[in-house]
Amino acid sequence: MQKVAAIHLQPGMAVARNIYSTDGVLLLSADTVLAPAHIERLQQFDLTSVYIKNPFTDHVTANDLFDTIPEVVREETRVQAVQVVHSAFQNFVINRELDTQPFKETAEFLIKEIIENRGAMIHLTDLRARDGYTFGHSVNVCVLSTLTGMKLGYDMFKLRELALGALLHDTGKMLVPKDILLKPGPLTAEERQIMEQHPDFGFDILRRQEEIPLVSAHIAFQHHEKFDGSGYNRNLGGADIHEYARIVAIADVYDAITSDRPYKEANLPYEAYEIMMSLANTHFDPFILRLFLNQIAIYPLESIVQLNTGEIAIVVKVLPGLQTRPTLRIIFDENGYHLTNGREIDLTKELTLFINKIFTPDEVLHLSAKLPK
Ligand SMILES: [Fe+2]
Repeated sequence: MQKVAAIHLQPGMAVARNIYSTDGVLLLSADTVLAPAHIERLQQFDLTSVYIKNPFTDHVTANDLFDTIPEVVREETRVQAVQVVHSAFQNFVINRELDTQPFKETAEFLIKEIIENRGAMIHLTDLRARDGYTFGHSVNVCVLSTLTGMKLGYDMFKLRELALGALLHDTGKMLVPKDILLKPGPLTAEERQIMEQHPDFGFDILRRQEEIPLVSAHIAFQHHEKFDGSGYNRNLGGADIHEYARIVAIADVYDAITSDRPYKEANLPYEAYEIMMSLANTHFDPFILRLFLNQIAIYPLESIVQLNTGEIAIVVKVLPGLQTRPTLRIIFDENGYHLTNGREIDLTKELTLFINKIFTPDEVLHLSAKLPK
């Protein structure tokens, strides 16, 4: 599976995952071979990128390349959650009254599925149309936070408080004017001031809901506070920030930097890892950050990487906690010759070898041109 920017889609590429619009309508199903009309349709829906079948997967004979990439939540579950959250927030904007039931139900089924898939890692960020960012983001932050809560040993009671607050953390954004929320560029000082009020707006709405635990409302209130006290809105620091909000702050930033936004393309997971690590102690609680990052596949399955020997390989296996040392299969030797049955390398055992480059989606496309037809 290979992420390709919408502008680089070409006829003949095969779609690897179902593609949905913001409101959950299936635009194209997996395995579709793209025709020019499909590409035009996808561009109309403002999708920034699409997963296509990896041109290298057919050329390796790795028996252990997973048939399906194990995800923390299934795609259908994620799509369903985004749909429910989207319409519940829309109703709130129209009626100015928050129906908490859909959020509680969504938090519940997400927790259930994450518990069932214990041991799975985060390999992919999902793709969404630009205007749907907030809804997909709420669901992703909920999934990432719940996973971290589990690693902290939370019981169901705490997981529910955390998941619900995570799902609702940006509720206050529903009161921020759309032209500020969706502005494709830097905000003016005045716009920023309005934007930075969204934790207060959110807290104000949520603390009045009997059905929402007050501590979940505090997640919305505190999710932009930073560990060193330099965040907003109250400059809280360290343990004065509730542990739930310290978790959600990490999930929030990780999802933002690994998503395509109107003003920037998504960072690759290993770049996100480096960025997040550089913010330990300042933005983030370093202990929770480490737990969080252990769940992220820095080199997701099917990534194409280069070793210090000059060989080029595809990632075929990743284990939690050992993400910097995946198992690889060589696809080009050090002289650039393509191998149909290259050797498999377990980097946890071959300690003199290391990855010194990960190929960007554009570079993978370029490399695939060297494959024998
Ligand atoms: Fe926020």
